[in-house]
Amino acid sequence: MSRLVVISNRVAPVRKSESGSEGGLAVAILDVLKDQGGVWFGWSGKITEHESQAAQTFDHGKLTYATVDLSQQDYDEYYTGFANSVLWPLFHYRLDLTDFSRRDMVGYYRVNVIFATRLLPLLQSDDLIWVHDFHFIPMAECLRQAGCKQRIGFFLHIPWPSIQVLLALPNHEGIVRGLCAYDLIGFQTESDLRGFREYIEHEIGGEVLPDGTVKAFGRSLRADVFPISIDTKDVGRIAEDAVNSPQTERLRDSLGGRKLIIGVDRLDYSKGLVQRLEAYEHLLKVYPEQRGNVVLLQIAPPSRSHVNEYRDIRHTLERTAGHINSTFAEFDWNPIRYLNKGFRRQTLAGFFRLSDVGFVTPLRDGMNLVAKEYVAAQNPENPGVLVLSRFAGAAQELDGALIVNPYDTEGVGESLQLALTMPLEERRERWRTMYDHLCDHDVVAWRRSYLDALRSVTRND
Ligand code: G6P
Repeated sequence: MSRLVVISNRVAPVRKSESGSEGGLAVAILDVLKDQGGVWFGWSGKITEHESQAAQTFDHGKLTYATVDLSQQDYDEYYTGFANSVLWPLFHYRLDLTDFSRRDMVGYYRVNVIFATRLLPLLQSDDLIWVHDFHFIPMAECLRQAGCKQRIGFFLHIPWPSIQVLLALPNHEGIVRGLCAYDLIGFQTESDLRGFREYIEHEIGGEVLPDGTVKAFGRSLRADVFPISIDTKDVGRIAEDAVNSPQTERLRDSLGGRKLIIGVDRLDYSKGLVQRLEAYEHLLKVYPEQRGNVVLLQIAPPSRSHVNEYRDIRHTLERTAGHINSTFAEFDWNPIRYLNKGFRRQTLAGFFRLSDVGFVTPLRDGMNLVAKEYVAAQNPENPGVLVLSRFAGAAQELDGALIVNPYDTEGVGESLQLALTMPLEERRERWRTMYDHLCDHDVVAWRRSYLDALRSVTRND
């Protein structure tokens, strides 16, 4: 079997970090590579005076890590600039936060060329190359220009925007041309795929054939939907073990029999955290019987703190949480526990199992693996309820959740009340459909279906 070479900006450390801010991508890739081995190539996480001339490699079991440092200028223009201040907000429908400059765009392309150049000497002729996420959209073009003949696939972890939003990106055509240099593009949801096809057909006069083949920029390629997932049974086992861990015990004791609502998100404006707190405030206002009887534990490890918008959202959240706590708190009860730090996955799994409600309400999210982990971690005899935003990719699959519109804070508050008072029978039924789905569609199935599709693509150049 060909060797798998995975490329992503963020490379998860061998020892799992405590920061918990890596996001679903690194966690899912680690699950794939731990299992099947291969090369994981990406940014070292370090900023040095000059970027590395060659990738630093080290082996860990079947897995070889190969990483490259970034210079300060590359970090500012490629990572903070074009990736996180243009592509991220725009693909999450936040045109108001999008801050385009040609300098950053040039930096983005320059870093893609640098990474491709550092990767080339490590490649073998029959490697299967799998590029992940918005940082490296032009990677296939760069590798092809250097003569790379291997099959190259791409998977987009974040949403693909609708055509009118994408057109606001000054170099939209260049970005789509870059994507079309891959042999297979994977999206999270049908609506992402629809948006992409619409652009191909209506903006650049390309074609989408009945079998899904895309013809554009003189090439043909495949584009399809592969919803990313988790190691469902493993999360379930970890949660079962963690439920008696000292940390879960401490959390349980601290609740004194109150119900627990949990949210776990990187501190990011796309996660809808302010609206989420406001919805919780609505619950406390309209259902006074919940006061003193419920706690919201919101875990939000800081992320991308060099980008201004992330500093702003942090301040707004501190204010909002402080305001709600000071309005409703009693001498023996605080409605919100708001934590700016991360926890190990094992610890979180125990917390999920203990919680009565999983509160996952992003304004826009490619998939959201926290929603899936929450379901996988539940006790089948007494499962909690998932309250899930319709704008998370996961909502396409998890129809046993209470699906909400995060912009309707009153509606979300009412769904919280429904979740907190839902009879056991209904909780079990809803949970069972979601859990069974996640067992059939776990991370192994995701990897298999994507890589099978990539292997079976007929290369046409
Ligand atoms: C999301 C993105 C990933 C990214 C992660 C963490 O999940 O899809 O590509 O790695 O957020 O963000 P960071 O900028 O810290 O890598």
